[in-house]
Amino acid sequence: MKIMFLGAPGAGKGTRAEKIAAALNIPQISTGEILRRAIKEQTPMGLKAQSYIESGALVPDDVVIEIVKERLAEADCANGYILDGFPRTIPQAEALEQFASLDCVIEVRVAKEIIVDRLSGRRYCPKCGHTTHIEWGEKVCAVCGGELIQRKDDAPESIRQRLAVYEEQTAPLIDFYHKKGILKVVSGMGKIEDGLKEIMQVLGC
Ligand code: AP5
Repeated sequence: MKIMFLGAPGAGKGTRAEKIAAALNIPQISTGEILRRAIKEQTPMGLKAQSYIESGALVPDDVVIEIVKERLAEADCANGYILDGFPRTIPQAEALEQFASLDCVIEVRVAKEIIVDRLSGRRYCPKCGHTTHIEWGEKVCAVCGGELIQRKDDAPESIRQRLAVYEEQTAPLIDFYHKKGILKVVSGMGKIEDGLKEIMQVLGC
């Protein structure tokens, strides 16, 4: 199954995509995570992306389209995948149609008021990409034991910028995929376990 998770920053796309991908035994492809790794390793792509990400802007379309095109050509994507954070603009969605065909787009919807709390309390493991929240009490990464840190783009000014970018450039994808008849909306509020059950039902699994 070829699935895409859509939603505002902090909606819970990554948290859900990680678990659904494991349950379906398909890879989770997070463009944000690929870019953060490239920054950590200071590759040419990472150096190009760093200032965009840290300020809360989108990385140029041509860079992310190429990343996803290459990643989807890898063997582990043959039986499906979850795209987490791509596409994020109409040109990205149109480019994706040239090399992949999605079965389902899941919009994770949350009330705007909770987003800032979620993002400012989020902690991230740069070693394995696992994400948690300070309220959940993890002291070190529950997956690999690595150190948990705050993402630079979870600073208040970056959060404001990311939300504005989402409304302007990414939210139009809701209508784009609704018109194609493949959009499903789920709640990003409430307990994560309930959210996962809802997604599995929507996917017919
Ligand atoms: P990316 O990493 O994709 O960031 P994002 O879309 O802003 O999404 P987030 O990771 O902030 O949120 P999420 O919805 O995954 O929420 P999470 O599950 O972590 O992208 C980062 C940057 O990379 C972009 O700004 C851009 O610069 C660049 N980029 C990436 N893709 C790009 C593209 N296609 N084009 C151009 N540029 C691109 O949850 C958030 C917090 O809430 C966590 O702490 C979590 O533990 C907690 N939480 C989740 N669900 C619940 C719940 N039900 N109850 C309580 N807490 C919860």
